[in-house]
Amino acid sequence: MDGLRKACILGTGSYIPERVVTNNDLSRILDTSDEWIRTRTGIRERHLAAENESASDMAVKAAERALKMSGIPKHRIGFIILATGTPDYPIPNTSSLVQDKLGLPHAGAVDISAGCAGFIHGLVMAKGLVSSGLFDYGLVISSEMLSKHLDWKDRTTCILFGDGAGAAVVGPDQGKFEICSSDMGTDGSCWDCIHIPAGGTVEPVSEEAIRKDKIYLKMNGRKVFQNSVRRMIDTAAAVMAKEEITADEVGLFLFHQANIRIIQCVAKKMGIPWGKIPIELDRLGNTGPASVAIALDLAVRDYRIPEDGYILLDGFGAGFIWSSVLLRIEHTEKE
Ligand code: COA
Repeated sequence: MDGLRKACILGTGSYIPERVVTNNDLSRILDTSDEWIRTRTGIRERHLAAENESASDMAVKAAERALKMSGIPKHRIGFIILATGTPDYPIPNTSSLVQDKLGLPHAGAVDISAGCAGFIHGLVMAKGLVSSGLFDYGLVISSEMLSKHLDWKDRTTCILFGDGAGAAVVGPDQGKFEICSSDMGTDGSCWDCIHIPAGGTVEPVSEEAIRKDKIYLKMNGRKVFQNSVRRMIDTAAAVMAKEEITADEVGLFLFHQANIRIIQCVAKKMGIPWGKIPIELDRLGNTGPASVAIALDLAVRDYRIPEDGYILLDGFGAGFIWSSVLLRIEHTEKE
């Protein structure tokens, strides 16, 4: 990227809703158990949003924390990229509500839908906008509230997910992390492996769709599992090859937090020491595209960032879509 400016993450933030739902709570409404969920997924509990909370509310809280850490004033934010599969409304975009609630007078706002890879896709796009000089500062946010799209009678899906949001301020100055090489991929032939059948243009919401539970998330768990392991390994290898580094130079691997067994398979096949992989899914569940953003913010705030080297962010989800990005560590102090 010679001749282009650096694009750095200047601050991070996250928001987790208050309400905790444990596996034992779920076993009281479903034919499941704490033991089954923990051994198959690694999840113990998840946080779910309040009835009156929306995806934009969560996004705003995460973004406010990221803005505070960055020290960038609101009037200098030129764009918002919000990754979500659970918008406040079908129309308008949720990032417009975020712009209004945050009070950002000069920000263009766009939503992206890229499954659980959305936050990483957003960082890649933000790097393009900042490096090219088109914009100075922007917010990349992911907010996911799948709890309102889950069938709470379906034990094969509802046990997996939690709600939450994460955010990063991106700009051209020396920052915490420089956004370096990236990789993005898609296999749209697997579109129906994670999907909500009704509510779009193919099948608008109808009484029949509601009666047949087509308004809820459906998933082919096995196919998702197999593909996520393969794709997460391949995209990590691709991004390290582009940057011409080995896994030894990566101090932290922030994998999409879907299932501990997926992460264990990836770590084993890549030969990554377990100590380099923060795990948040045990208490948060799968927070969709927000999971990587939340894991990054928690690592920053808990002083878990190494002094130098790289952080690798790696995501996979509905589409299928996957992406990864390398962050070069520039500055590790907490603000
Ligand atoms: N509690 C108890 N039993 C359950 C259960 C639950 N919550 N969910 C499923 N089961 C049962 C099934 O009905 C099945 O019973 P059967 O053998 O009598 O038919 C049995 O457990 C095994 O089901 P299976 O689907 O084969 O389990 P699995 O080992 O593949 O685990 C997932 C299921 C969903 C945990 C696993 O496939 C997975 O994690 N996939 C990836 C999902 C994911 O990460 N999605 C998001 C990606 S972004």
